[in-house]
Amino acid sequence: MPGPERVREFARAKINLFLHVGDKRPDGYHELVSLVAFADVGDELAFGPSSELRLSVEGPFAGSLAAEDDNLVLRAARALGMTADIALTKNLPVASGIGGGSADAAAALRGLARLHPDPGEAQLLAFAESLGSDIPACVLSKPLMMRGRGEQLELLPRFPILHAVLVNPSVAVPTGKVFAALQSRTGLGHTPHAFDLSGGEPLIRYLATTRNDLEAPALGFAPVIREVLGELRRMPGIRLVRMSGSGATCFGLFDSADAAAIAAIALEHSHPAWWVRAATLG
Ligand code: C5P
Repeated sequence: MPGPERVREFARAKINLFLHVGDKRPDGYHELVSLVAFADVGDELAFGPSSELRLSVEGPFAGSLAAEDDNLVLRAARALGMTADIALTKNLPVASGIGGGSADAAAALRGLARLHPDPGEAQLLAFAESLGSDIPACVLSKPLMMRGRGEQLELLPRFPILHAVLVNPSVAVPTGKVFAALQSRTGLGHTPHAFDLSGGEPLIRYLATTRNDLEAPALGFAPVIREVLGELRRMPGIRLVRMSGSGATCFGLFDSADAAAIAAIALEHSHPAWWVRAATLG
């Protein structure tokens, strides 16, 4: 007899299109403002009913997570007080600035909420905030402006589709240490407020007036980021190049899906050890 249907969730990679850092707060976190979009590449989670909490991990980056009992997926389930048999397919590189662990935890919260009596979005977002700064944004997984420590979210429903290439040079970067090494920051008062969401072109022009403040300190931990940014800048049709989150994943924006696909093929060919994906962001 077939078992009960498994619930599935997709944990989309989170891309910080810009990230401006403000003051350090008494609780040790930094105030920030960040425009965040989500990619059509990500990890996959499947949930089945079980009286115990179980997690199996497979996929290209499963090895990086193997021994962790405090995996964010398990912590999310424990926070909700729910059990399930969870299968995670780890397609995204770990500790890479695109929110892999956060996206997984957020997908676990969404999936478990579907399997058990749904605690409602407000409750899920409160659990998400207790688990990590990026996790509330990943629960919503839609274009948004993120403020505070990451928990104040403003959805941007008319956001255009962006064509991107994501590149990770296979170096893990520790987020806390990157924030701690931060020397110069844009601050929160200098982010241009209004931006035009009528298409990719005005959005890219707006993004050119912004930056990722974590790029400079991340370079200290992973100097190869400079090479990644340089290689992306050389690609035909490139419009904007930047690092996401605390690195080391960088992205390039292009005017068309074709230009992004061609650049991804070229980079995969020239740097076979790098993780390269063409993606749409929205
Ligand atoms: O919240 P999360 O566990 O993802 O943060 C990892 C680390 O990044 C924190 O311990 C903190 O050092 C740093 N961080 C920060 N300000 C933020 C988010 C994270 O200083 N807004």
